[in-house]
Amino acid sequence: MARFDGAVALVSGGSRGIGEAIVRGLHAEGAWVCIGDVLETAGGALADDLGERAVFQRLDVTDPTSWQEAVSRCEREAGPVTILINNAGVLGITPIGEGATDEWKRVMAVNADGVFMGMDAVAPSMRRAGGGAIVNASSTAGLQGYASMAAYVASKWAVRGMTKTAALELGPHGIRVNSVHPGPIATNMTQQIDPSITDSQAIGRFGRPEEVARLYLFLASDDSSYSTGAEFLVDGGQTLGPTGSLIED
Ligand SMILES: NC(=O)c1ccc[n+]([C@@H]2O[C@H](COP(=O)([O-])OP(=O)(O)OC[C@H]3O[C@@H](n4cnc5c(N)ncnc54)[C@H](O)[C@@H]3O)[C@@H](O)[C@H]2O)c1
Repeated sequence: MARFDGAVALVSGGSRGIGEAIVRGLHAEGAWVCIGDVLETAGGALADDLGERAVFQRLDVTDPTSWQEAVSRCEREAGPVTILINNAGVLGITPIGEGATDEWKRVMAVNADGVFMGMDAVAPSMRRAGGGAIVNASSTAGLQGYASMAAYVASKWAVRGMTKTAALELGPHGIRVNSVHPGPIATNMTQQIDPSITDSQAIGRFGRPEEVARLYLFLASDDSSYSTGAEFLVDGGQTLGPTGSLIED
């Protein structure tokens, strides 16, 4: 029996990048998967590629009605949702003092409001299922600061905080909630990032989406049955600080 046989998974931002790798991983191990994204062409093509047990549903995570439609689609076609991957996210890079207010609203709407609305929409369905797992996309930016990224950092700290509250509230219903904190991963999102930022990491390269997806799958499965409300790093050692001796040669 495969690890996700019988599971009904909803993956936000599942059309590309880390989300696509999660969708492919869940599907390969038996789950029925709903790819929820605003990127319709890529998401539709992914669903077609996977075939049976995969559907694309247009989902704008900033819109509660859109979330209700996605949950209804899952329930109609496969049953109550047992896995929610709150992966959709956007990056914003603008220094404070350079008119970053619009960017703040846009980034918070997707990365923080979107994750809350996802949990809010899916929790009743998961309770009907008798339990489940929610995995929320935070970042190393949910553990420390990054210059010129106030909105992104705030949104990812928000995810880390709401994950803990959700774990407390939903634990008695058999629902576990954890957050994932990737370092730099090679996706569309990081194309504008200076490649040299990984030079002084313990693992001195960008991660691959599949390397992050494996952690999501662990947290979505019973393999992590005693973990909830916790942060899980997959960052190549980025948060350890730089390699290199403090003593001059
Ligand atoms: N790539 C990294 O280095 C990195 C590091 C830490 C955390 N993360 C987080 O991982 C998640 C996935 O990022 P990625 O690197 O795969 O980026 P990506 O840009 O490749 O994918 C993000 C996906 O989210 C979707 N999305 C954006 N706004 C949406 C909305 N309103 N509704 C629905 N879907 C929406 C996009 O269409 C896209 O498919 C994000 O939450 C990101 O913040 C990424």
